[in-house]
Amino acid sequence: MKNIASIVADIAEEMRGMTDRGQVANYIPPLACVSPDRFGIAVVMADGTVHAGGDAEEPFSIQSVSKVFSLTLALGMIGDALWSRVGREPSGSAFNSIVQLETEQGIPRNPFINAGAIVVADVLLASGTPAEAIAGVLRFVRGLARDETISIDASVAAAELATGYRNLALANYMRSFGNLMHPVEQALGVYFHQCALAMSCRQLAMAGRFLAHDGRDPATGRCIVTPQRARRINALMMLCGHYDNSGEFAFRVGLPGKSGVGGGILAVVPGTASIAVWSPGLNAKGNSQLGALALERLAARTGWSVF
Ligand code: DON
Repeated sequence: MKNIASIVADIAEEMRGMTDRGQVANYIPPLACVSPDRFGIAVVMADGTVHAGGDAEEPFSIQSVSKVFSLTLALGMIGDALWSRVGREPSGSAFNSIVQLETEQGIPRNPFINAGAIVVADVLLASGTPAEAIAGVLRFVRGLARDETISIDASVAAAELATGYRNLALANYMRSFGNLMHPVEQALGVYFHQCALAMSCRQLAMAGRFLAHDGRDPATGRCIVTPQRARRINALMMLCGHYDNSGEFAFRVGLPGKSGVGGGILAVVPGTASIAVWSPGLNAKGNSQLGALALERLAARTGWSVF
């Protein structure tokens, strides 16, 4: 096998030349302005070495990738009690689908579809006001990445609020079943702001390290979550992290991964590496087209698939 540095450099170069890059999300207006030419990749190894290529230092809207961090925080607050309000099964439906909520008593299938993440945001409100809950998410992610420059793009959060009719419907629907404890505006305020976190591939890969190392930050030895919880979050990422595209992602890449409509994907190689890729063009299921292709090539050339 070639060394990781040259594999990452090769993949960044190959992605630069791709013409079929998918469609940039346009239902959140500021995301539509991002150039589809972008591609970034960062791989953080267990010893802290970072292999980065392309636009790895450029911040992008992490969107649904944030659901990994909010889930981790919510589990830290209420533990397994979360699972009485959110399921752990793939939905087989689009990320913003409402249909299953009707027959399943307002309990979302998993914490990574929008409905599930809105319930998780509602849990985070137990820590204080919406502003305090949002500050808690930002503090957590900054701490994980050990980077105080990470910020929330308020214009993205505002644009989501202005156009988020579907999320408003999901939240109101769940509230009617008694599965939101706080006003829908507050749960959505937390949710929209966490989705508006702006991070580079390098920052995102750094923040994901604890998932690759039994719940510990390998740089400090600090325990973020127990090994069991890290395994479970990885299991959810594998089965639900790409919505109704999760089977395809597991088939092609074979790693736990979480995507976002900003075009980012966080992927975990247990015991070995944390990876972030970013390319804004999405496939028909709303996941980064080149991001998945880059991860497929990386897994094939390194033998990193968990299977
Ligand atoms: O709620 C939304 O629609 C967005 N803030 C997040 C959706 C998302 O990233 C789906 N991922 N592929």
